[in-house]
Amino acid sequence: MDNKQINSDRDTDNMPGMSAANYQEQDLDQFLDFIIEKAVKIMHARAGSLLLLDQKTQRLYFKVTTGEKKEEVKKFEIKVGEGIAGQVAKTGESLLVQNVKQDSRWSTKISDSTGFQTNSIVCSPMKVGSEIIGVVEIIDKADGSSFQESDVTALTELSEMAAMAIGNARKIEQAKREDRNLQEDLGEKYQIIGKSRAIKKVTEEAFKVAKSKTSALILGESGTGKELLARLIHKAGPRRDKTMVVLNCAALPETLLEDELFGHEKGAYTGASERKIGKFEVADGGTIFLDEIGEMHPGMQAKLLRILQEGIFYRIGGNTSISVDVRVISATNRDITKEVEEGRFREDLYYRLNVVQIKMPPLRERKEDIPLLSEYFIDYFKEERGLATLSISEVATNKLVQYDWPGNIRELGNAIERAVVMGDSREIKPEDLPAFSSKVKNSGMQVGLTLNDALNSFKKDFILLNLNNTGGNRSKAAKIMDIQRTYLSRLISRYQIHDI
Ligand SMILES: Nc1ncnc2c1ncn2[C@@H]1O[C@H](COP(=O)(O)OP(=O)(O)O)[C@@H](O)[C@H]1O
Ligand SMILES: [Mg+2]
Repeated sequence: MDNKQINSDRDTDNMPGMSAANYQEQDLDQFLDFIIEKAVKIMHARAGSLLLLDQKTQRLYFKVTTGEKKEEVKKFEIKVGEGIAGQVAKTGESLLVQNVKQDSRWSTKISDSTGFQTNSIVCSPMKVGSEIIGVVEIIDKADGSSFQESDVTALTELSEMAAMAIGNARKIEQAKREDRNLQEDLGEKYQIIGKSRAIKKVTEEAFKVAKSKTSALILGESGTGKELLARLIHKAGPRRDKTMVVLNCAALPETLLEDELFGHEKGAYTGASERKIGKFEVADGGTIFLDEIGEMHPGMQAKLLRILQEGIFYRIGGNTSISVDVRVISATNRDITKEVEEGRFREDLYYRLNVVQIKMPPLRERKEDIPLLSEYFIDYFKEERGLATLSISEVATNKLVQYDWPGNIRELGNAIERAVVMGDSREIKPEDLPAFSSKVKNSGMQVGLTLNDALNSFKKDFILLNLNNTGGNRSKAAKIMDIQRTYLSRLISRYQIHDI
């Protein structure tokens, strides 16, 4: 038996694939079965087995067995050093024993129990590097003749193949585990809290798109965690060490937005006393997060489309083209397809941004995450306020679960912060939570007002409500309403809010 023969045998049979890309545990099992069958066949043996070494217990267990007693044999374990197989696992050297009954190393444990009489054995070690991971053994020629040295050579080669397959599979498993650990670490750091199927699906998708430069569009109501997810995508991908720049497209009028995105040259317009580097340049090599993209003006949409198509742009007032490598993640709480249908959002831009779409589920659609999220916020505020104990009563948790959370996680976080302030610093009770069901006041809901007046009336009351809630603290109120503090101050003077 020479190597050629083994190889030609290997070619004619259909050997199960073991490529890393589509590796499955089953593939390995099939492959190992195949190796033993092959060994038995080409050596015309009565039985064969493959044993793996458990490093912790230093015992061999049967992974693959053939022959009439194969099921019974599987129950046994063999100590390193015990019997022929144990000897090979100990020394790492192949053994050929013509007559086991005359060999002092032979253990009768298995044959006594199964009644499978053995005369001769060939046994070879499986090694990964210098580590012995198991053995392969072949029992008795079917025709009663003796094993030859060439059988040892053949078995050695087959056991090397098996060892290589196992080694590779373990490496792949290890890599998969490391990938999972990384995902868990990042998931923890970026606090995408939740065990619901909906949120798991979202994070899985995020990790998938993180690997490429593909544009991603995140859809979801306000406060569902769109920005948080964008950060996770950035951090989980190869651009993690570069900058992620955030730009809220709703916050700025068109000209200012353009200035923010592209920057300007000195003297580009009155007041442009210095060159300014735009966000696209700052994000070079990294990621730009365009928040509230649905609010972007049509003129700006056209400019954005151009840079996405060409990968180059000009600073305002500049005539040198600047090329950047930026990954674009955008988000909106609008029904973007409707915006496209009704002509407010360019279809061509939509397709550029929407290569991958991820939907953040509203909190009311993953209510099972509410207790978990509230625990998370309680821990957070407990730490922030240096409280020794802080918990939430079951009734209060139930109240949280029942509510529908139109403001999603942002609203939940705020409700808990408020409860921490209002409560006794030990346990949050239902009465510490806002009266979710009762509407505060139907601001602006009167016949006779114009829409604009109604909106203004609502805005004024809404701002007052939030200022009252924070004891007049503008920064906090602005944070809760998710607007800039300076913008809040402007609104306060516009609506002449004095009584706070
Ligand atoms: N799954 C989550 N786990 C923990 N905190 C979250 C989660 N989702 C959102 N948050 C928190 O809720 C708030 C709103 O999230 P954000 O990403 O700003 O939402 P959006 O951009 O959709 O309005 C942030 O303070 C964020 O940290
Ligand atoms: Mg946001």
